[in-house]
Amino acid sequence: MKLRSLATGPLTGAFPVPGDKSLSHRALIFGALAEGETVVAGLLESEDVLATAEALRAFGVRVERFGPGRWRVLGGRWRSPDAPIDCGNSGTAVRLLMGAAAGQGVRATFTGDASLSKRPMRRVKAPLEAMGVRFEGGDTLPMTVEGPVTRGIAHVNVPASAQVKSAVLLAGLGSDQPVEVAEPVPSRDHSEIMLAEFGVAFQRDGTVTRLGAGRRLSGRLVEVAGDPSSAAFALGAAAIVPGSEVTVKDVLLNPHRSGFVMALQRMGADLAMANIRERGGETIGDVRVRFGPLFGAEFTAEEIPSMVDEIPMLAVVAAGARGETRIEGLDELRHKESDRLALMAEGLSACGVEARADGDALVIQGGPIRGGASVRTEGDHRIAMSHLVLGLAAEQPVTVDEAEMIATSFPTFRDAMKALGARIEEVAEQ
Ligand code: S3P
Repeated sequence: MKLRSLATGPLTGAFPVPGDKSLSHRALIFGALAEGETVVAGLLESEDVLATAEALRAFGVRVERFGPGRWRVLGGRWRSPDAPIDCGNSGTAVRLLMGAAAGQGVRATFTGDASLSKRPMRRVKAPLEAMGVRFEGGDTLPMTVEGPVTRGIAHVNVPASAQVKSAVLLAGLGSDQPVEVAEPVPSRDHSEIMLAEFGVAFQRDGTVTRLGAGRRLSGRLVEVAGDPSSAAFALGAAAIVPGSEVTVKDVLLNPHRSGFVMALQRMGADLAMANIRERGGETIGDVRVRFGPLFGAEFTAEEIPSMVDEIPMLAVVAAGARGETRIEGLDELRHKESDRLALMAEGLSACGVEARADGDALVIQGGPIRGGASVRTEGDHRIAMSHLVLGLAAEQPVTVDEAEMIATSFPTFRDAMKALGARIEEVAEQ
């Protein structure tokens, strides 16, 4: 399905942001490892998260939906599934589940769609192998994993990957071996925060996290905050569409996830945060963005992990700013659902924006956005949504070639954007 977006005047109102994807995967997986019942409220019901729910059922865990966004998980010991586990498009599902399954001492084969089957799995296989976990297959899916964990590990998490860190910690939960992860550049710490909420003991010593002696999880209530990666589309749109004012409520503001909000501020956006508080160990709050002049800025490699999934949207904002924006250290973007560095440079250029990849940096000259192009997404949800936002600020409509994959992370994207006044419509296939 092709979608097209058009300039439609100011975007205004409260943006109905869905639950955070990272927290949703973790709530289900940790609930599945815990003793007793876990109730999840505000779960993101997207294809990626539903793949995790389905996988957990295949591991013999009871996972039930009892209302919109409300799920119940009855944790316990896992069993080896009879059939391969299909993780669809989701890197988080496969990498976290590999670690958890290994820790549970079960054997499972993992598969995924064409995009996931190309993504690097060596980064999770290598540390798990060092922990005594056995693998069959190569360094990409399909792969078979077989626990148990028989050795400890001191893992150095380079490149900074929260998925790999989480896989190592989850594997370690099933053993009493010493397990530590060092992070020269910190990645998102939702696993550490949520595991602590489930009763797991940690020592955090500078950049090193060590599992303690208490590794049993007890079921609990998890309230999932709004997804800052999904909120970024509305906040970024408000920053570049004249006359806009958009608010996002109860969104996750964990410092390892708020890089995009900080980036908007650095570019001069009219932005305010309110109602900042803690819930379930995570910082949450409301963010309001009003249209105003924006200026190009430089972003360094160390800043990328805190906005790794928002770089496509940051590039769109940069297109609407004055002057040059340079975003350094984007090598990891080449290994996401698509080569996001190449596709953003290509899509922006097709829409008349001067944009180029310079090594592992993205360089964008801001100014009026011509639009009027059909953009290739290679089935990447964030490439699609970012270019649809670009079209809202462009002189001519922007079309994206494949919009189905938006459902992997944000099934309600179109309706949520429409609620602000955006015009995003289906293009009849020839
Ligand atoms: C995620 C970590 C990030 C991010 C992904 C979700 C997570 O990936 O891009 O969308 O939930 O842990 P990496 O661990 O590869 O950086």
